[in-house]
Amino acid sequence: MSAVLNPQSAATGITIKPLHPLFVAEVTGVDLTVPVTRADFRAIWEAFNQYEVLVVRDQNFEDDTQIAFSRNFGPLETMEAHPANNFKPGHIAVMTNLDGQGNLLPLDDPGMQHRLRNEHWHTDSSFKPVAALCSMLSGRIVPPVGGNTDFASGRAAYAAFPDARKPALEDLIAVHRVAKPEDEDDPAYNEEQKKRLTVTHPLIRINPVNGRRNFYAGAHAQAINGMPHEAARTLIAEITEFCTQPRFVYSHPWRLHDLVIWDNRSVLHRATTFDKTQYRRKMHRTTVAGAAQDSFFANLPQPHAA
Ligand SMILES: [Fe+2]
Repeated sequence: MSAVLNPQSAATGITIKPLHPLFVAEVTGVDLTVPVTRADFRAIWEAFNQYEVLVVRDQNFEDDTQIAFSRNFGPLETMEAHPANNFKPGHIAVMTNLDGQGNLLPLDDPGMQHRLRNEHWHTDSSFKPVAALCSMLSGRIVPPVGGNTDFASGRAAYAAFPDARKPALEDLIAVHRVAKPEDEDDPAYNEEQKKRLTVTHPLIRINPVNGRRNFYAGAHAQAINGMPHEAARTLIAEITEFCTQPRFVYSHPWRLHDLVIWDNRSVLHRATTFDKTQYRRKMHRTTVAGAAQDSFFANLPQPHAA
């Protein structure tokens, strides 16, 4: 599977419509299940950096076409064997309450228990040395009620945070871990993984395309370098709560074949619950590694003039 930019076309029929006063836009006028043109991807890339979350309806992906589109953003993360991908390593993580035969899993199934973590505010892969650029979730089976995905803009929150407090936060470095201290016995992670997946990231990040600052915290942030533990936990909780106020949150109600793309550098997200004893839900996720090309177009020739 190769990257799928088509340099021959500079025309784009894409429209971008904001869905929230502060972030999130719906993209229409493009079929992402086939190779996208260079001009279309440029429009998507620019909207992604501006709006942080993009919603694209009616994208009937198979795994290979979702992977192909995702690769436009850069190299993909490869998930290790894990409940989130049904223990099948690869580029697709399956978020579902179904077993391999499509039957509802019991609520006490270990995989179901593990996925409850997704209902905490977090940003994907912040426990990796190179945190994710973006994730995209494809709605393959959606429940009729509930199961929204919530997104919170760390960029809008930072802009609204009291300016007087910002200098003291500017250079703080947070420690992110895949497992919380109370999860030390979780069999999903072995000792080697836990040790390796303890990393640091700035509490405040800057989008390299537009220079906008944002808070970067969430459930994996558990300490701050040089700060007493309790003070750090209190500050991280305050930042996360500030970011996830309703005014900074968009809740996405899923329709079949929705694709939602979000910027893991600046957005927190969480799954919301639904009646898992009655309804089926199956989402396929790809995640683009953080080394993706923030200056993606800088090294490419300009599109042909129309
Ligand atoms: Fe997630």
